[in-house]
Amino acid sequence: MSIEIMDLSYVYMKGTPYEKHALKEINIKIEKGEFVGIIGHTGSGKSTLIQHLNGILKPAAGNVTVNGISVGQSNLKTLRQQVGIVFQYPEHQLFEETVYKDIGFALVKQGMDSEKADKKIKEAIKAVGLDEEVLSKSPYALSGGQKRRAAIAGVLVMDPQVLVLDEPAAGLDPKGRDEIYSFIKELHKKTGATVILVSHSMEDIAKLVERVIVMNEGAIYMDGTPKDIFRFPEKLEEIGLSAPQITYLMKRMKNFIPGIDETIITVAQAKENIKKILGGKKVD
Ligand SMILES: Nc1ncnc2c1ncn2[C@@H]1O[C@H](COP(=O)(O)OP(=O)(O)OP(=O)(O)O)[C@@H](O)[C@H]1O
Ligand SMILES: [Mg+2]
Repeated sequence: MSIEIMDLSYVYMKGTPYEKHALKEINIKIEKGEFVGIIGHTGSGKSTLIQHLNGILKPAAGNVTVNGISVGQSNLKTLRQQVGIVFQYPEHQLFEETVYKDIGFALVKQGMDSEKADKKIKEAIKAVGLDEEVLSKSPYALSGGQKRRAAIAGVLVMDPQVLVLDEPAAGLDPKGRDEIYSFIKELHKKTGATVILVSHSMEDIAKLVERVIVMNEGAIYMDGTPKDIFRFPEKLEEIGLSAPQITYLMKRMKNFIPGIDETIITVAQAKENIKKILGGKKVD
């Protein structure tokens, strides 16, 4: 078991007029190597939840363990070597004069020798799909998408067994989004790390993850495979969310084209399904 969240509750500004029960008795078990998506409205508690995974926040009630270590009592250093969190807009935390120093920051702090660190930094920049030559540049000289990737490399360099990403593609153009998601997918496949992805995009979630956790008002609303979650959009609509657009389109087409699979959740699956109906003719 990679992560175990038991009866977790969290309250912001306890005892003040602004007291906010952000998490209410959350229970989740995540196996090692799972790729999990978390969706939910603004304010539903997604960021609060993930901040418990490396001890930034401590449970008000309940318990969280990562690889058997209890987050509330653990040595934060050990925990943070295992759990890497990429926060929203991580590029705001780039501050060194070169990308190289930025990515290596945590390694230096850890006391790793420079030769070993050098190797890790080069592996990390490659893992996010950037060229080694950006290492000598100032972070400010990079494009938006490159900056984001450099910042993510600064988390990957620690080889986390659990990688948590809070809206890693927010604010990027479609090409930038695709690049980010393709290396995250690759990384999951290659390293076997547990990956937790918070996203507002149902399309991205449907394409990427194996399991979706839906949060609503600080509680778990649904937990299942993407197909199970998106199959009945009505349940998501009740809390103001929706299924991927392609699912609605397929459901409508089903009314006049027999053979349409209305449980489809990605454009790639839709293409396959339509191709089959048309008898193998090319569909673009
Ligand atoms: N530092 C804080 N102090 C007080 N209340 C907070 C704080 N951070 C979050 N909250 C409140 O806790 C609740 C959960 O917030 P959280 O940021 O976890 O939601 P979220 O699902 O990540 O939202 P978003 O999709 O906007 O990122 C919200 O009502 C929010 O206003
Ligand atoms: Mg958030």
